[in-house]
Amino acid sequence: PIRPFVVAIDGPAAAGKGTLATALAAHLGLPYLDTGLLYRTIGKIMADRGWDLDDGELAGQLAGALDPEDLKRPDLRGREAGELASRVAVHPQVRAALVDFQRGFAATPPGAVLDGRDIGTVICPEAQVKIFVTASAEVRARRRTDELAAKGRSVDYARILDEVRERDARDSSRATAPLKAADDAVVLDTSTLDRDGALAAALAIVAAKRAAVA
Ligand code: CDP
Ligand code: CDP
Repeated sequence: PIRPFVVAIDGPAAAGKGTLATALAAHLGLPYLDTGLLYRTIGKIMADRGWDLDDGELAGQLAGALDPEDLKRPDLRGREAGELASRVAVHPQVRAALVDFQRGFAATPPGAVLDGRDIGTVICPEAQVKIFVTASAEVRARRRTDELAAKGRSVDYARILDEVRERDARDSSRATAPLKAADDAVVLDTSTLDRDGALAAALAIVAAKRAAVA
């Protein structure tokens, strides 16, 4: 049997992971899983219910009972959900409860593209392709600001930059599955690349790995 082909995309907030992973999945004909959505959903449900975000046991129980329908909530893409996600993502109970779902998704033929923080390091250490997408904090904050402005929302660049730095610090410093590039990941700095440039670079990385495997 052909081994499922797995592409792991990790990196800090607003690096362009989701944009790249979506385009890559379409090009490769693979399903895509946005793993940030899992943590966003848990954070949002806890906040809605007035639960203590620091209660790892409770958050872990919620993660273990997550209903896939919950991932379709309309309010998960914004900054508030991102912040809530990074707070519940520190709990080992939450991370452990989500491992099987993510691995099952990746292991289903023909494979998958997954993006997050720990895909190449923890969830799919055997992935054939690992890309660590990054960009300077300033560039990432500028992208988020422009994205919100395009939606007609006026936001302060300096405030977005603070949020980006705060999330980087929390994601990188946690004890369980911190944000870091896997030893065998290719680092793709998109600071000076547009979306098409990032996609072309990623496709070249995939082609090189495929050639090496064959
Ligand atoms: O998923 P992640 O938070 O890493 O980033 P994203 O939501 O995919 O991208 C953040 C913003 O950067 C979006 O508005 C993208 O259009 C833009 N962008 C990008 O994704 N890649 C580039 N190379 C340049 C800009
Ligand atoms: O798009 P952006 O990078 O802003 O956020 P995201 O990928 O949706 O992730 C939101 C938060 O969930 C991150 O800041 C992490 O704290 C957490 N997360 C994680 O810990 N592990 C993952 N595999 C994915 C997300």
